Amino acid sequence: MNTIIIGSQWGDEGKGKLIDFLTESADVVARGQGGNNAGHTVIANGKKYILHLVPSGILWPGKLCIIGNGVVLDPIGLVEEIEELRSQGVSITPENLMISDRAHLVLPFHKEMDAAQESSLGKNAIGTTKRGIGPTYADKARRIGVRTADMRDPKIFDEVLRRRIALANMELQRMGIAPMDVEKMVADVTVAVDVLRSHIQNTIPVIHKAIKEGKSILCEGAQGAFLDVDFGTYPFVTSSNTSSAGACTGTSIPPQKIDKIIGVCKAYTTRVGAGPFVTENDEISDYLHGLGREFGATTGRARRCGWSDGILLRFSAMFNGFDELAMTNLDGYDQCKEIKICIAYDLDGEILDYPPPTADEWERCKPVYETMPGWMQDISECRTWDEIPENAKKFVARMAEFIGCPITTVGVGPDREQTIFVK
Ligand code: GDP
Ligand code: IMO
Ligand code: MG
Repeated sequence: MNTIIIGSQWGDEGKGKLIDFLTESADVVARGQGGNNAGHTVIANGKKYILHLVPSGILWPGKLCIIGNGVVLDPIGLVEEIEELRSQGVSITPENLMISDRAHLVLPFHKEMDAAQESSLGKNAIGTTKRGIGPTYADKARRIGVRTADMRDPKIFDEVLRRRIALANMELQRMGIAPMDVEKMVADVTVAVDVLRSHIQNTIPVIHKAIKEGKSILCEGAQGAFLDVDFGTYPFVTSSNTSSAGACTGTSIPPQKIDKIIGVCKAYTTRVGAGPFVTENDEISDYLHGLGREFGATTGRARRCGWSDGILLRFSAMFNGFDELAMTNLDGYDQCKEIKICIAYDLDGEILDYPPPTADEWERCKPVYETMPGWMQDISECRTWDEIPENAKKFVARMAEFIGCPITTVGVGPDREQTIFVK
């Protein structure tokens, strides 16, 4: 049974929590895109873990985690993350964490370029995580990237790295930025690469052996559908295909071997960084931030928050092919007297059933809402569907009906135990 789990909105839907929940009955967890721009929170065994590059399945002993070919990997960031996880008692070895030999490396100059591009955009900045993601994927497409395969032989890696840094320094100079210290960069990157070398594998046959043996693979998506470089709020997107198809190219699992696609959605909506957000609402933002919720797991930025957006989720379910939705943070609405669901976009008087193609038009869309009564009670202690209040059940049913996709689980809190199957 091979399952793709991806974000259906703008990221931070609770993918980490769901992956952790499903890993118990899986064998392999693989990431296929993105880099350490991701921040996946898992709360388990009374501890909070934040995963950036390491698949969230690592918290379960005996599971194989794979960083796939479609990921862009910051070696320095990954070593720090592994050290942090080890200090929290998580076992990470070349046996349970494999890195594809086809992944591209995020190098310190990519981060410098990311920051420089953002500042040159001024008020039109994307609000990236400044993790060098865009420039690294650009290098991949320009065919000048450095890959994990280049790391296998220290001598070859040193040559490739120096050549690439020389080119980057010329580009930085053209951008009016001082060239970076070559020796320091080589030293920093080499230390990290030496630590990671034993994890590099040709993961393609590993994945295909697992498929042949009937093992269960979970593909862990990063970011969310509307940060997808093709389907998202372009140019306010990330630089990879965050939608379901990206899981196949990013891991080498052929499309017909995928059995199920699960979209993770928040009951309400959030986004970090700039770009259109039709249902954004100050009242719900202040309320959630007041509860200490919705601060970014990677950058700590306060997330923008808004009402439920049926238009967004219905479109997402269409191009991702969701078989099911897992709804998290239903408890976020616990103290709302009324809940709003956006059921159409009004673009300059024209009613749209789907989001428009440009960020400008998308920005001008006004939400058309339908209102439902809230439940005004704490649901975080509920552990079965029967305990969920009637109005919450009605909200979940209405969302599923409007989106045209079953909602199979709801989250009532951040803990492993706080995921409930919908009857
Ligand atoms: P991811 O990037 O999709 O893995 O999501 P993040 O970890 O960045 O953000 C999701 C946030 O919501 C984290 O703080 C989670 O601990 C939290 N969370 C996930 N599911 C639930 C839920 O059902 N209820 C509550 N209260 N918090 C949740
Ligand atoms: P997870 O996996 C939320 C956003 C950034 C910015 C845009 C581009 O935790 O859901 P980038 O650094 O990728 O070039 O930034 O994408 N972004 C995310 N927002 N969750 C994420 O990951 C994100 N990864 C990138 O805020 O708007
Ligand atoms: Mg996140």
